[in-house]
Amino acid sequence: MREWRVVWSRAVLLSIMQPMTLAELERKVEELRAAWRAALAEVTDAEALEAARIRFLGRKGHLTRLLSSLKEFPPQERPHAGRILNQLKREISQAIEEKGREIEQREWERRLAAERYDFTLPGKWRPLGHLHPLTQVRLEIEDIFMRMGFDVASGPEVEDDYHNFEALNIPEDHPARDEWDSFYIDDTHLLRTHTSPVQIRVMKSRKPPVRIICPGRCYRRDTPDATHSPVFHQVELLWVERGLTMAHLKWIIEEFVRRFFGPGYEMRFSADFFPFTEPSAQVHIRREGGPWLEIMGAGMVDPAVLTEVGYDPEEVTGFAFGLGIERMAMLRWGIEDIRLFYQNDIRFLSQF
Ligand code: PHE
Repeated sequence: MREWRVVWSRAVLLSIMQPMTLAELERKVEELRAAWRAALAEVTDAEALEAARIRFLGRKGHLTRLLSSLKEFPPQERPHAGRILNQLKREISQAIEEKGREIEQREWERRLAAERYDFTLPGKWRPLGHLHPLTQVRLEIEDIFMRMGFDVASGPEVEDDYHNFEALNIPEDHPARDEWDSFYIDDTHLLRTHTSPVQIRVMKSRKPPVRIICPGRCYRRDTPDATHSPVFHQVELLWVERGLTMAHLKWIIEEFVRRFFGPGYEMRFSADFFPFTEPSAQVHIRREGGPWLEIMGAGMVDPAVLTEVGYDPEEVTGFAFGLGIERMAMLRWGIEDIRLFYQNDIRFLSQF
């Protein structure tokens, strides 16, 4: 009884542990090859391909398991067994590589088709900002004078009495001060009422010849209306050199008007008074038969001003003008209310 059991179990064990024969291996390899081909045929994406790879070539994969049975073959059979197993392994690896490329290519083609752009479709409109009309005009004026050889200078908007008035030949009790009704900050400082104080600052810091323009904000205690604003912009021009005359001034202004407004404008100088220029003039322009429009105050720099900054009026002469930027913009575009420039109404601004 006991013997039998032992014999039985040995027989069973022997049959289970019976090493595979070559013929059996060949059959299994063929089965595996067929199984692999069937599996590969089902694969359509990269994920499935990877799953199939793991199933066959993974650490516990079908082929890997078969490969580990190699050592069970007697040495003289091993080369053959190894050959057919490796052959299948190569086949599977190659097929995986090919399939991978194929899937990648198909994915690429799918994306190319899906992401095609139609360049004939109308674009999306994005509102684009632009420079304020006063800035446009200022830059253009700067450009015109820079091409004529003028430097762009600047000075403080909070000025002192000396530069804004006194050095410009406007003493404290002078009636002309009323013309520049000012915002005072303290007893001696004010918001500059014009850009002329920059003349003084520049002349005091340079030797002649001096050829500058100075664009900037100015402040006056004016009640806002269609032609007045408590804040506005001027461009000051100053040229000091030996031998300058009013004729040079006239040419500069004429040339400026021609470059800014175009041809076809007449110009008229009429007598005016500014304490810092002598003679002084008001300049008007008009287009064939139209109304005369004042564009600036101008004049020859007063000898008292030249002396004040340390220049010798016997040596050099100069001229200056003060141009309103708002005035230029209003004339160019036919704008009738200066307040439009400061209201930031997009319906107005978008027209420029
Ligand atoms: N500063 C003067 C004004 O604001 C204009 C001006 C400038 C006049 C230069 C003559 C010369 O009115």
